[in-house]
Amino acid sequence: MKNILVVDNHPIMLKYMTGLLEKKGYRVITAEDGLSALEILEDYLPDIIFVDLVMPNIDGRKLCRIIRGLPKLKDVYLIILSAIAAEDDLDCIELGVDACIAKAPFNKMEKHILTALNRLGSGSSSHMPRETIGLEDIHARTITQELLADKKHFEVILASMSEGILEITHEAKVVYANPAALSTIGIPEVEFLASNFTDLFAEKDRKRVEHMLVNMRNISQTNTPDSLVPMKNKRVELKFLPLEREGHRSIVMLNDVTEQKRNEAQLQQAQKMEAIGTLAAGIAHDFNNLLMGIQGYASLMLLQTHSTHPHYKMLRGIEKQVQSGSKLTKQLLGYGRKGKYELKLNDFNELVEETSDTFGRTKKEITIHRKLSPDLLKVKVDHSQLKQVLLNIYVNAADTMPDGGDLFLKTTSTSHKEMDGKLYDPTPGDYVLLEITDTGTGMDEKTRERIFEPFFTTKGMGRGTGLGLASAYGIVKGHNGYIDVKSEKGRGTTFRIYLPATETDIKEVGIDKRKEEKVATDNKTILLVDDEDTIREVGQDMLETIGYQVMTAADGKEAVEIYKENHGNIDIILMDMVMPNMGGGKAYDHLKEIDPGINVILSSGYSIDGEASEILDRGCNGFIQKPFTINDLTKKIEEVLNI
Ligand SMILES: Nc1ncnc2c1ncn2[C@@H]1O[C@H](COP(=O)(O)OP(=O)(O)OP(=O)(O)O)[C@@H](O)[C@H]1O
Ligand SMILES: [Mg+2]
Repeated sequence: MKNILVVDNHPIMLKYMTGLLEKKGYRVITAEDGLSALEILEDYLPDIIFVDLVMPNIDGRKLCRIIRGLPKLKDVYLIILSAIAAEDDLDCIELGVDACIAKAPFNKMEKHILTALNRLGSGSSSHMPRETIGLEDIHARTITQELLADKKHFEVILASMSEGILEITHEAKVVYANPAALSTIGIPEVEFLASNFTDLFAEKDRKRVEHMLVNMRNISQTNTPDSLVPMKNKRVELKFLPLEREGHRSIVMLNDVTEQKRNEAQLQQAQKMEAIGTLAAGIAHDFNNLLMGIQGYASLMLLQTHSTHPHYKMLRGIEKQVQSGSKLTKQLLGYGRKGKYELKLNDFNELVEETSDTFGRTKKEITIHRKLSPDLLKVKVDHSQLKQVLLNIYVNAADTMPDGGDLFLKTTSTSHKEMDGKLYDPTPGDYVLLEITDTGTGMDEKTRERIFEPFFTTKGMGRGTGLGLASAYGIVKGHNGYIDVKSEKGRGTTFRIYLPATETDIKEVGIDKRKEEKVATDNKTILLVDDEDTIREVGQDMLETIGYQVMTAADGKEAVEIYKENHGNIDIILMDMVMPNMGGGKAYDHLKEIDPGINVILSSGYSIDGEASEILDRGCNGFIQKPFTINDLTKKIEEVLNI
């Protein structure tokens, strides 16, 4: 006895078919739409299936395609019974079915159904006509044609929308998905239809989606909020619209926002780092000026104090404190700086070897393993800055391995192509990669997210300032490189530093531009330009102590005026960079117009950055970083005057 499944949403049709077929000795099961048919077919294997075309919950065309896609049903005898055969063009081959029969008055249709079944029985199914059977018994209806055209029109609209649209039943079974939704989800339509919508999500997110679905039924259509949910390796935004009057079905709008969210996060992070960077550099600048005052007065007092005097040691103590303070501002400046100090073509391996040797000597309990690529590409870096970066990272690694451990250093040449999956979009090109791995405690996600922020530390008051990685970040960024971290609690940590590789030699931005001829030392006059009263006062004292005649100016404009009147008498100018009215850069250009052979040393509480290097490139003689000691100053002036 053959088994038949009849799928039709009209109860009368189901009743009629059941009666007819059972009378002829078939066993008949019915389903009222595509979805229930698929549920039945999960564990039922009929010999023949009759399918209606227009049905809710997966229509006849899609049902046929799904059936033909299922291996166990690929040879089932499939017959379409269509009520719109006169108005719609049907092609049995395109639909993958064995016959199409027009729904006509029962007595006429019966003949065709039985003929089709007999042909199957006689094994001559291959001779079934490709065209719909029984068309002669019916007439095309204009209203049906119009409704079908209207239906197609809406299908075209749904198909061309860039937003993903799904329809799901109250049990979350998918009964419709437009092409945008299918492409986001990445599952073919025949596999996706009738599956469970919540299966798209990982276990932990599934509960949330189920919860949203339940809640959504209690909210009015217009107020459903968007929700962000991870889906495979994407992030999708979901919006549910309940269709209350249609058996608690819902429309789900689904948008792939992976790229958009990534860009937003990137921008936010960049803006945050930028803002903190400006703040950090500002603090460092003001602090350096303060330290300059303290350093200057302490230096002057030391000069007048014999080393046996009880104050001598205290003054040295003050100097030491100033040095610690200046180390701090150096880290801050590293984080905030936009330019570089001194770019040199470097063999990065050498830098790694040198720094790790130094480090290894102080931390005997840590075993250093180096795997340095023998043909590593070259980089242009500021040697001392990169040293600071590496040491900061080594020291952190040592802190996390107090009882000893391993530190792995590995260099490789790579390119942006091997850097996908990063939070940032690397500029295309070749890179030198240094990986620094420790076997320490690792970090949890909360810590990991914040380590590059200035002042973020887990080391407690007085033990860490939280500036090590912030300055590493700023310096690497200043070199157009990238730094990121991979770490898990209990599993150690790996830092990756990418620096753009270079093949070309570069012009070194030197700060020592010595004059050829020797100059006599006596009776030199120096013009000191600074907007801060304290700096002018202490600077004048320091310079006079060294033996110079000193003139002062409070900004660039005043400096230019004074120089115009006295330029025969002024040998060298020590000038601040950032000042009101006229800054150091502009003043330098004016001064140079007056006297092309002028000697100018720039000084700043900021470190040398893009602007200072440009002025140096224009011929300015040197740069000195505040705070400086009398010794630093003497050396610098002597260098420039070539004394
Ligand atoms: N290798 C590592 N393993 C585990 N945690 C780390 C590691 N490197 C950094 N961290 C975490 O990142 C935080 C910030 O590091 P950062 O170097 O910026 O500051 P710090 O070491 O606390 O202070 P500072 O370097 O200024 O003395 C540390 O306090 C620590 O929690
Ligand atoms: Mg540190």
